[in-house]
Amino acid sequence: MTGGTRETGEINKRMTIAAQECGWAMALAMRVVLEHPEIQHTFQVRRYAPDIPIIANIGAVQLNKGVGADDCRRLVEIAEADVLVLYLNAMQEVFQPEGDVDFRGLSSKIEKLCRQLSIPVGVKEVGWGINGVLAKILFDCGVQFVDVAGAGGILWSQVEKHQTGHPLLKKAVQAFTDWGIPTAECILEAKSMAKARTILASGGLKTGVDAAKAIALGADLAGLVRSLLPAAIDPDSEKMVKRLELVMLEMKIAMFGAGITSVSDLKESNRLVYEASG
Ligand SMILES: Cc1cc2nc3c(=O)[nH]c(=O)nc-3n(C[C@H](O)[C@H](O)[C@H](O)COP(=O)(O)O)c2cc1C
Repeated sequence: MTGGTRETGEINKRMTIAAQECGWAMALAMRVVLEHPEIQHTFQVRRYAPDIPIIANIGAVQLNKGVGADDCRRLVEIAEADVLVLYLNAMQEVFQPEGDVDFRGLSSKIEKLCRQLSIPVGVKEVGWGINGVLAKILFDCGVQFVDVAGAGGILWSQVEKHQTGHPLLKKAVQAFTDWGIPTAECILEAKSMAKARTILASGGLKTGVDAAKAIALGADLAGLVRSLLPAAIDPDSEKMVKRLELVMLEMKIAMFGAGITSVSDLKESNRLVYEASG
């Protein structure tokens, strides 16, 4: 979520330490490093987390702004990341007066990047969702996983509303408060179009019950962002660990209540219900 200042560097550190302690993956939004290499140290968190997957993340639209495989390799090296994720955020950029709105031809650039990099590449949205058709297109491009990042959580258009000084954009954004595909719908669609592929679910997940539901619907992994922020900005790093422990406990209790003893059975539960009902 963060990076660039001393304070946000501290947030990255706190989140990474908690992720290492609880066995979560950690994603770092690194677009800012492309323009400000001097703040790259705020993303050098591998020393706090030797074991967990670290994800380096930039906007897919940057590929249309001259960013190429070498830049991506550099970001991955800085973060000692295992995976690169490209985010699709057209409906965020469009409400920024200086936003990057040239999303043309990105699928072929994503395809090329997947061939050029030796680590897996994933694609995510940022809160409006990836539907089944797009998930299939992305997998056909060589993407290893898709995080649907659907609607139900943060509404970037509303965040941009408070930032833009452009009066017409400020008005137009009001028409988009219910834009986006709900996360549950995205998971079902993506799974039906790309059965054997890895689907991550994020977008509006706040509790371990939400995470359990996302996995029962067909996701392989669940991601939380906005709902972790209050704990992440608290200087008491124990709060972040406790926050992740709470999510894990909620998920275990949800599984207990549903009579499910493993995450793999949770993943299968949807299929079993469909089969039982014919
Ligand atoms: C403060 C903040 C910063 C974010 N920055 C990024 C980013 O740089 N790259 C990205 O892919 N997603 C970013 N996101 C979007 C999240 O990754 C996620 O897709 C979205 O917030 C939906 O999940 P949530 O409802 O759990 O927050 C950000 C979200 C928040 C709250």
